[in-house]
Amino acid sequence: MAEPGIIRKLDENVVNRIAAGEIVQRPANALKELIENSLDANATNIIITVKAGGLKYLQIQDNGTGIRHDNLDIVCERFTTSKLQQYEDLQEISTYGFRGEALASISYISHLTILTKTAADKCAYKASYENGKLKGPIKACAGNNGTQITVEDLFYNVLARKKSLRSATEEYSHIMEVVGGYAIHNSHVGFTLKKFGENTDIKTSIKSTVVENIRILKLFFLKLDPRNVDVNVHPTKHEVQFLYEEQIIDKIKSCIEAKLLSCNSSRVMYTQARLPGATMVDEIIKKTTDGAKIYAKDLVRVSSDTQKIDKFFQIASKRNENETNNAKETEKIVSEEIKDKPIVQINDEASDILENSLIEEPKEIKGKEKWNLHTAVEQANITYIDPKESFKTRTFKYERVETKLTSVKQLREMCEVAKQMTLLLLSKKEMLFEYFSLEMNADGELLALPLLLDGHTPFMGALPTYLVRLVTEVNWDSEKECFDTFCRQTAIFYSQPNPDSIQETQKSEEWKQEHVIFPAIRRNFLPPNRFVTNGVILQIANLSDLYKVFERC
Ligand SMILES: Nc1ncnc2c1ncn2[C@@H]1O[C@H](COP(=O)(O)OP(=O)(O)OP(=O)(O)O)[C@@H](O)[C@H]1O
Ligand SMILES: [Mg+2]
Repeated sequence: MAEPGIIRKLDENVVNRIAAGEIVQRPANALKELIENSLDANATNIIITVKAGGLKYLQIQDNGTGIRHDNLDIVCERFTTSKLQQYEDLQEISTYGFRGEALASISYISHLTILTKTAADKCAYKASYENGKLKGPIKACAGNNGTQITVEDLFYNVLARKKSLRSATEEYSHIMEVVGGYAIHNSHVGFTLKKFGENTDIKTSIKSTVVENIRILKLFFLKLDPRNVDVNVHPTKHEVQFLYEEQIIDKIKSCIEAKLLSCNSSRVMYTQARLPGATMVDEIIKKTTDGAKIYAKDLVRVSSDTQKIDKFFQIASKRNENETNNAKETEKIVSEEIKDKPIVQINDEASDILENSLIEEPKEIKGKEKWNLHTAVEQANITYIDPKESFKTRTFKYERVETKLTSVKQLREMCEVAKQMTLLLLSKKEMLFEYFSLEMNADGELLALPLLLDGHTPFMGALPTYLVRLVTEVNWDSEKECFDTFCRQTAIFYSQPNPDSIQETQKSEEWKQEHVIFPAIRRNFLPPNRFVTNGVILQIANLSDLYKVFERC
């Protein structure tokens, strides 16, 4: 059996370095401590400069009280503080700091330098520290009132930690978060954050308000139904996960777009007047007018969001021009469709319509499986087509019936069947409304339809068939089956092509497909595995193979 290990007291430096690792896990933690010190010293202006995400260099300059030069020898020792004297003081403490540990911790894991001047001092003093102790003599030098603390080579002696920090960019984004947070909560203090030798990334003014700071920092608040947020992903709730993330991003995108477009209504442009007698150089004209040039690096398309493939075809420019027109056109056509086509009233008159649908052979939808109906309906969070806009009745085309029906008896039978169907739908009225937002009033008038896809109005000519199929194809006896079959029928209705479509409407169809249907498929479509083998989905190309092909070119 192995001998028990001998227990020894750890070396003070080891203890301190371990303790330091707990306080400072990444550059942003060190910066947080330094900002708090500056705020505790009543600074009104704080400038932060960062190199390599703070791992190489992190400097904070404030205009606070400064540190007394006779305190500089102990300021980086553990448990030295000017903020707390006895335990009871903790009850009334109004400063961020009180432990006297932050500077000590940082000095154990980096090269730390303090340059400070109090208002009473004639000059500034500079001192460097290592493992909590002064590294050399304190030097008098020039400097402004306040304190400048420089942290270099953070984690130089904690290699495991250094390796675990992945990228300078990520560290910098944490630093931005920290600075942003303190800037919002301390709007009376001016904050500046910049990378060494570059322009500022954050700059707030001493006089700014909280709201102004929020604007500068480009933060926004999201109000979400708590049921759509999963908070159980991080012990400190520092991170949460959004359900329906894509939809939320889309919403944010469109909000920002709308805001940006609305502030575009007036704009002041300053132009440089040409010197008299100067002539335009051809080269400059070419440079400024040849906007259409596409650089080789932009020819790789890895996401459909960044650029469209149309751009690489000749017709691209034409199409783009048409795009906004198309949007308007679609809107017009859709509203006209709603105005003219619906012919539904599920009462006596409506029986005619139901009949009409019975006579017509229901159209077989090709590839109806291609739409995962459940997902579509569930995720679309069924809402209304404007409920105020009830669909008006249209006169029934008797001529058509006459040609198909031979006897009055047959016609009567049809009417009877239609009435029965109407009654069945009416008996499910409450349920249809509650589950699917399919609304009808007591008179049997249809008021609202489930809306699967915002921006896509189904072909209203297929509405009667849809209603008939709700009666004949939906299993009303079992709840699960009912959901499944109702969703299927609704999806079939939504995917009906418009047989009357003329060339113009076809264009708007194309637009709809690109901007409404395909994005929705990307978000909501969960293809079952069998689609891969039964040929419903065919792989045409994949990105890595394409790269290989283009590399050879
Ligand atoms: N920017 C600064 N301006 C003026 N004094 C400072 C500044 N930074 C540090 N000090 C002085 O150094 C002392 C030690 O700072 P340190 O951050 O280590 O401890 P603390 O702020 O007192 O407590 P905590 O460890 O909880 O932050 C402070 O109590 C303060 O007197
Ligand atoms: Mg502190």
